[in-house]
Amino acid sequence: MKDTMLRRFAEIFGDAEGVQVYFAPGRVNLIGEHTDYNGGHVFPCALTIGTYGAVRKRQDRKLRFFSMNFEQLGVLESSLDELKPDPRADWTNYPKGVIWAFGEKGMETPTGMDLLLNGNIPNGSGLSSSASVEVLTGFILRDLFGFEVSNQDLALIGQYSENRFNGVNCGIMDQFAIAMGRKEHAIFLDTADLSYEYAPIKLDKAKIVIACSNKKRGLGDSKYNERRSECETALEELRKVCGVNSLGELTEEAFEKHKDSIGSETRQRRARHAVYENRRTIAAVRALQENDVAAFGRLMNDSHLSLRDDYEVTGLELDTLVEEAWKVEGVVGSRMTGAGFGGCTVSIVEDRAIDDFIARVGAAYQEKIGYSADFYVVEVGDGPCKM
Ligand code: GLA
Repeated sequence: MKDTMLRRFAEIFGDAEGVQVYFAPGRVNLIGEHTDYNGGHVFPCALTIGTYGAVRKRQDRKLRFFSMNFEQLGVLESSLDELKPDPRADWTNYPKGVIWAFGEKGMETPTGMDLLLNGNIPNGSGLSSSASVEVLTGFILRDLFGFEVSNQDLALIGQYSENRFNGVNCGIMDQFAIAMGRKEHAIFLDTADLSYEYAPIKLDKAKIVIACSNKKRGLGDSKYNERRSECETALEELRKVCGVNSLGELTEEAFEKHKDSIGSETRQRRARHAVYENRRTIAAVRALQENDVAAFGRLMNDSHLSLRDDYEVTGLELDTLVEEAWKVEGVVGSRMTGAGFGGCTVSIVEDRAIDDFIARVGAAYQEKIGYSADFYVVEVGDGPCKM
């Protein structure tokens, strides 16, 4: 891949003299969905697929970007003096946002650069291609200009840029999973204080299979912000009767006791998801530590039901993929992953059942939805690196 990157860089930007190549992974969340902005737990892992970047500093303040995933856009130009979000800048709003965020934190990028990207995460799949680009950009800036930031800082800066520059009020999960990824481990992260623990992913004779719905996201981002504010309102209402700082602090019992203080039935369901999903995530990690993969799978299934019925972020495409998966013998657990409204599902499937799973879920999806889904048997990989 390094050679491909260098060759393409030379074709686009003239030559590849002094070019450095980097990689940042994508991520999949195993359980703990829509909990990260509610002070709850998440359990994501980095993947071996991700985004490659080839970069070289310039003498002037120009920024020139090219993506092998969006060849038709050609070279998109900007400058260090134009760090403002702009719809015409398309995907380059992600790296520009990170350069801007570094500046906001007192780390001004001194010179421009030429940057070529190439990702093998399916676009818009909900496997965090945007967070991958953000963490990759931060990693590159640190390496090129010697900024003193930790990988955890790279995650926080990436999230800051997504919130403030790109207008999506996301939590910390994606950037954290990518910046802190570790081969064959998932990260059990408490988003209330960012304490975390690595848990080995030991799936006895089974693998993680991702099914991509190929549904275009559309309104996803605005719905995401809407769910977030519904949870914030529910928390305000709960706070009047019990002194909690986040939904993640509540046990199931405490929630049931106080839920009537939440003034709408919809908001009650949103908050119920946030509370129960957090508790499920804690239970799931415990099950995995006890080598009870079957219990882990059942909690994944419960997570999907809660996202479907209480949080309402699934939709026909994701529900079809999951409900068809549940019918296949050898599927340990299956649920939507990421923000929802499209994107992917994650399933744990026994090795012997993987072919059957892909064939049967694929055919049922095509039949019901009218276009095909894509399947990926994935591996859990490390965080960002220089190649
Ligand atoms: C998106 C966000 C994350 C998280 C998930 C839902 O991926 O970027 O912060 O909220 O949705 O769990």
